Amino acid sequence: MANVRSAYTDREGFYGREDPMALIRRFGSPLYVYNEAVLRRCCRDLTGLSSFPGFCVNYSAKANTNPHLLGIIRSEGCVVDAMSPGELFLNQTAGFQPQEITYVCNNVSAEELAGASRQGCVVSVDSLSQLELFGKYVSGGRVMVRFNPGIGAGHSDKVITGGKKTKFGIAMDALDDVLEIVHRHRLRLVGINQHIGSLFMEAGPYVDAMRVLLEMAEALLDRGEPIEIIDFGGGFGIPYRKYEGQSRLDIRALGAALHATISDWARAHDYHGRFFVEPGRYVVAECGAVLGTVHATKRNGQHLFAGTDIGFNVLARPMLYDAFHDIEIYRENGSPEPDSAEQTIVGNICESGDILARDRKLPLIMQGDVIAMLDAGAYGWVMASCYNSRLRPAEVLIGLDGNARLIRRRETFADLAGTLIL
Ligand code: LLP
Repeated sequence: MANVRSAYTDREGFYGREDPMALIRRFGSPLYVYNEAVLRRCCRDLTGLSSFPGFCVNYSAKANTNPHLLGIIRSEGCVVDAMSPGELFLNQTAGFQPQEITYVCNNVSAEELAGASRQGCVVSVDSLSQLELFGKYVSGGRVMVRFNPGIGAGHSDKVITGGKKTKFGIAMDALDDVLEIVHRHRLRLVGINQHIGSLFMEAGPYVDAMRVLLEMAEALLDRGEPIEIIDFGGGFGIPYRKYEGQSRLDIRALGAALHATISDWARAHDYHGRFFVEPGRYVVAECGAVLGTVHATKRNGQHLFAGTDIGFNVLARPMLYDAFHDIEIYRENGSPEPDSAEQTIVGNICESGDILARDRKLPLIMQGDVIAMLDAGAYGWVMASCYNSRLRPAEVLIGLDGNARLIRRRETFADLAGTLIL
């Protein structure tokens, strides 16, 4: 058994018929591991938020663009967003059709706007100048407009996207300017969207912001604009502190509030279009863990360090946002350790900020252990880099049959050199 600290993944059956130490031996270290059953369950939490016929989950692909996961998400009935030509390409690789993709972008070129539109995606622009550019290049085209509802939420200032301090969205009081541009270029304003920020654990601000966007939708319908998509954005949080018993976002309460809000509003306004939510993290975070190997331990004064191969090139969130990820510890013939000590878990990158967890109380970690950073499925591999010329890790998927399948190979030196003129 490999069970120094594994209560959470044991309970979930996260590794199926596999064992984390054996996965590392087979596929190398570090390694991203995903569990299909967990992914499907998270999709269903969201698709079940409302039975309103026009309700749809618009998965925000920036959280994880592996086409194998995208394909599963599509099979659960979700549509998808993209915010770059690369995401558009990967979404299509996974089987999404252009009419299932909204292009929700920010500060992009005319070529990019026109290209996404030409491929058949609805493009959402988020400034008057981008709307003007879109109109110039795609005169007569279908467009969505992203508004800033003035309400923000999120786990860090770096990911709050609503409110005056952020670069996102068009102010709500600029409606006349929006319509002037739309009419001058004979555009069809087919939808509106917003995103208040990433990671809320209480439904309040999200539902408040929904009401703000619905007021805008009402104003547009009153002015004869035939909108057919109202997208409330993402931000649905997951409990990263599972070992401390952190509660989940109350998805039933959120669903009840959301369902009542959209069905009442649709009835009152005789609206037969669609309502989107646009979550990324909630869909994919919990189905992913990143495994790594402990190659060194040391004591520096009072401080105990465990040195792993999970640098911030592999998982950037702790370094970027001081984000917390639960840690599990696996050891061949290990047993649950009653004693714990404060340890700082670090990576192998040449920066002092390369810290996964600071002064974390955990069973004593030993050289040769394999550790898992849990909840790494969202903003994990997609934010990995080749800093220090390290190779980006492989990804495996534990399927519904409990077996592991390689869904992305580890990079090689040829990948490092691939763009060089030598
Ligand atoms: N829609 C838009 C327009 C967005 O910008 C985002 C996230 C989402 C939807 C999905 O948000 P979610 O449901 O995943 O919270 N790298 C950061 C998160 C950045 C989020 C950026 N935008 C992190 O690791 O926490």
